[in-house]
Amino acid sequence: MLPSPARLLVLCVVVCCLLALHHVYQAKAGDDSDGASSSKAVDTRGMRFVNSRQKEAYIVLQTWKSTAIYSDPNNFTANWVGPKVCDYTGVYCAPSPTNPSLTVVAGIDLNHADIAGYLPPELGQLSDLALLHLNSNRFCGILPTTFRRLKLLHELDLSNNRLVGRFPKVVLSLPSLRYLDLRFNEFEGAIPPALFDRPLDAIFLNSNRLRHGIPANLGNSPASVVVLAHNALGGCIPSSIGRMAATINEIILLDDNLTGCIPPEVGQLHNLTVFDVSFNHLRGPIPDTFSQMSSLEQLDVAHNQLTGAIPAGVCSLPKLENFTYSYNYFTQVPPQCPARSAGTGRMMDGQQNCIPGLPNQRSPSECSSDAARPFDCSKSKCSREGGGRMPSPALPMAPPPPQQSKGGTSRRRSNPPPSPVGNRPKNNIKPNYPPPPPVSRSSPSTRSHSPPPPSQTPPYLPPSLVPPPPPSSSLLPPPSYPSQPSASTTKQASAQPNISTSGVLSP
Ligand SMILES: *[C@@H]1O[C@H](CO)[C@@H](O)[C@H](O)[C@H]1NC(C)=O
Ligand SMILES: *[C@@H]1O[C@H](CO)[C@@H](O)[C@H](O)[C@H]1NC(C)=O
Ligand SMILES: *[C@@H]1O[C@H](CO)[C@@H](O)[C@H](O)[C@H]1NC(C)=O
Ligand SMILES: *[C@@H]1O[C@H](CO)[C@@H](O)[C@H](O)[C@H]1NC(C)=O
Ligand SMILES: *[C@@H]1O[C@H](CO)[C@@H](O)[C@H](O)[C@H]1NC(C)=O
Repeated sequence: MLPSPARLLVLCVVVCCLLALHHVYQAKAGDDSDGASSSKAVDTRGMRFVNSRQKEAYIVLQTWKSTAIYSDPNNFTANWVGPKVCDYTGVYCAPSPTNPSLTVVAGIDLNHADIAGYLPPELGQLSDLALLHLNSNRFCGILPTTFRRLKLLHELDLSNNRLVGRFPKVVLSLPSLRYLDLRFNEFEGAIPPALFDRPLDAIFLNSNRLRHGIPANLGNSPASVVVLAHNALGGCIPSSIGRMAATINEIILLDDNLTGCIPPEVGQLHNLTVFDVSFNHLRGPIPDTFSQMSSLEQLDVAHNQLTGAIPAGVCSLPKLENFTYSYNYFTQVPPQCPARSAGTGRMMDGQQNCIPGLPNQRSPSECSSDAARPFDCSKSKCSREGGGRMPSPALPMAPPPPQQSKGGTSRRRSNPPPSPVGNRPKNNIKPNYPPPPPVSRSSPSTRSHSPPPPSQTPPYLPPSLVPPPPPSSSLLPPPSYPSQPSASTTKQASAQPNISTSGVLSP
């Protein structure tokens, strides 16, 4: 009997990963620091390079192409031939920030190339890289530790690949890194607390296999966007979250198996526009402090075991567009919060609660069940421990939320990866200098659980901020060196308050 296509696919993935591991270990056995051994195989005799940095890049790119890329169905690397590396598809050059007279490889953007292969240790030799975008490919294996040498790397987008293993700690050693996008991979284990001590502006970790809670130092992060959804992290929302007030714009913790109560400190996040903690096991009330969240546009607490009265101020928040509190055990709602919006332009969804007089509520037996009973948050272990990794053992786990709609890995798997049609990066976009900051579209939204239409990709939106799958990266930003790596950090971060996480949750 012939093997099924599915089996063949699995076999291919396994073989690819075995090969990748083989190469990784070979490189380790030889020279872990730069994988120099295999690089020497690249022949540069008779070639004239613009400068020695481009020659180095040539050697690395040829090594990648010949030893670590097994399939390139869209021919992205077909023109990776000869010494003019700046003309290669997906390779972008710019004046070196340390020596502007040298034109160096500052960016690699192979978004949506559908390339299969792995990331060889030699990539760490591309020390001029400011931007590495590999979204929606089939790179498997692990992130080589040689990445620690990418001291100028500002944006790292590895989303929607097949990378595995523990959280790649090497990214925590990159001094210039501001955008970290690892979503839709197979990273497992714990989120290292050091992540939240890094000066990252955007952290996308959703749809991996991360566990063991949200580190209690979450509040140390200066990020404007934090998306940890679909990871079954467990534990509580750390109360340190309140310390993010000056910077945080969007936080998405949906489907993370969270327990405990929503910490009142969330109410201090006066610049937060999106707060999504839906599909968890949260208990207790919506804190009264939520009435102070003057920037809030999207609030989703649906599918938890929240109880009590919705604070009167919440539905009067000036910017609130969409408040979803369905599938909880709320018992009271202020008149400003209808169960369904009625032509107000505001979306309110409060179905399946225990609110007398509202349509579409839970049955009396559900509303008198244990799950519906008010919960004393002061007795939650989380509040005493300040949240973070501590699950609350005192609570009997309520039954899991209905699985039909959003559901962790099964949802992820049920959405096949996008087919990478068209929209390949144009090679003729030359970097400008000084580079524009990577900015952003103006209306943050996390509501779209299906991919937004490709045509809506705004010009010059950095691909790392575009939802990984369908939207194209046809309009590439120039690779950007922050003009003054250390000083510009805060400036860059504050210059881009509106990073859109629209569609981040769809592969
Ligand atoms: C890539 O190149 C091969 C060989 O030249 C060609 O057969 C194939 O159609 C090309 N694929 C695309 C997507 O351009
Ligand atoms: C969610 O957390 C509970 C403990 O609070 C654990 O028993 C359960 O296995 C977790 N679910 C998943 C999918 O990890
Ligand atoms: C952040 O909040 C402060 C105080 O509420 C406000 O003045 C400022 O405009 C906000 N910034 C943004 C980007 O919303
Ligand atoms: C409001 O949010 C819910 C849940 O997050 C979403 O399903 C719905 O589509 C949103 N509605 C609008 C009008 O944005
Ligand atoms: C950010 O978004 C707000 C409204 O959502 C808008 O008023 C503001 O101009 C935007 N800022 C930038 C820099 O796009």
